[in-house]
Amino acid sequence: MSGSNPILAGSAQSIEAYQQAIAQSSQAVIEWLKQPEMYQGKSVAELRERIALDFNPQGLGNQVAIERAIEYFLKDSLSVHHPQCVAHLHCPSLVVSQAAEVLINASNQSMDSWDQSPSATIIEMKLIEWLRGLVGFPHGEAGVFTSGGTQSNLMGLMLARDAFFARQGHAIQQDGLVGDLRKIRVLCSENAHFSVQKNMALLGLGYQSVTLVKTDALARMDVNDLAEKITQAKARGEQILAIVATAGTTDAGAIDPLRSIATLAAEHQIWVHVDAAWGGALLLSEKYRDYLDGIDLVDSITLDFHKQFFQTISCGAFLLKDERHYALMRYQAAYLNSEFDEAQGVPNLVSKSLQTTRRFDALKLWMGLEALGQQQYAAIIDHGVTLAQQVAGYVSEQSSLELVMPPQLASVLFRYRSPEQAGSHNDAAVALLNQRIGDALLESGRANVGVTEFNGVTCLKLTLLNPTVTLEDIKVLLTLVERTAGELPGA
Ligand SMILES: Cc1ncc(COP(=O)(O)O)c(C=O)c1O
Repeated sequence: MSGSNPILAGSAQSIEAYQQAIAQSSQAVIEWLKQPEMYQGKSVAELRERIALDFNPQGLGNQVAIERAIEYFLKDSLSVHHPQCVAHLHCPSLVVSQAAEVLINASNQSMDSWDQSPSATIIEMKLIEWLRGLVGFPHGEAGVFTSGGTQSNLMGLMLARDAFFARQGHAIQQDGLVGDLRKIRVLCSENAHFSVQKNMALLGLGYQSVTLVKTDALARMDVNDLAEKITQAKARGEQILAIVATAGTTDAGAIDPLRSIATLAAEHQIWVHVDAAWGGALLLSEKYRDYLDGIDLVDSITLDFHKQFFQTISCGAFLLKDERHYALMRYQAAYLNSEFDEAQGVPNLVSKSLQTTRRFDALKLWMGLEALGQQQYAAIIDHGVTLAQQVAGYVSEQSSLELVMPPQLASVLFRYRSPEQAGSHNDAAVALLNQRIGDALLESGRANVGVTEFNGVTCLKLTLLNPTVTLEDIKVLLTLVERTAGELPGA
């Protein structure tokens, strides 16, 4: 082998190389954190032009590789911690989450089998047990950490599908799908996350299997319409394999009435999965925990820690109420989770996951809880919810801004109207103006504000996760929105 040993190990040479690489990278992060801009403002075309994969066959060495990553990646990254970076459910991360990443990455444990992650497996299982307690699920260990909301929703829908078919005597994992599949339905609200559709397609049932339930004025599932849709489906001979309720819709942050949905579903023996990717953060809240009333009544839950739990990407979890349902996805691989191991109680978590090799992301939540304690964790979660209420009050008072709907979690949906557009019904012009404001803000590098559509209305979105952001910061941002609108050519 030419050159020095590139592998991380216990030799003096490797440890020195590791220290240098980490010191150089963390120094670059420190410089980047101090940058005042949210983004350097390069366009798609500029970045395509600038970034070239001209690999040197001899290798450049760690130091130059890191320098080039700083130059071509880090400098043109979005500052997610910046107070004016509020477009998405994309959080700034805890300092302790960064420390956890160092440990996760250097130890490189793999969560599929106990012999690849002994202490990590036990920590993850204990965290799942703890999360179940927080939700109000029975004592147990059914659940697993996932790559995020999409995968957790897939697990919920897959197990709901397989439990549904198992009741009719079919083992889907073994035999594949059977019967009149075009009659299978999943019900979710009009505002549920698109991963419901994508996952149903992946599960072989297509977008056509998803029936959308109407929402009320606050974007929550309308339980009367849900009851109506169940009755209509039954009358047409359709079969409902699950209801997906959302606790925290992506834009409005709406929380569906979980208790009423679960009660109705129980009458019809329908599986309920709750997508609490965002709103699950309120499990820790002191002020807003009751928003999740009824979450303990459902069959499975999605939680995401890389949203309002402030963990680095990726970090999510899936919780399954009745652990017997895990038998539906049972697969034994001799080299990972053999019967021999199982008989001895060796916990090989591959049995609970769709992934095989899997990161020890659970450590981030563990360390976050240890470092902050539940009180401080709750306080930084509650901050965003309270701030959204204050911002909504402020927006309502501005003549050029229009609140699209009252906030429920930590987002504010609003529109800008130019003085000429005040009172106008030309929604297309207002929509275009708001789209152009969002684009211009990112292009200038000054702010990242979401542009979305709500009930057919194009609007701007502030997702106020960042606990260091104040009402004053948002007032500055809203002034920038107005100024940007005024500066747009032809506006
Ligand atoms: C309500 C909801 N569910 C699921 C997801 C998907 O989560 P992930 O991006 O972690 O896969 C999102 C993403 O924003 C979401 O808002």
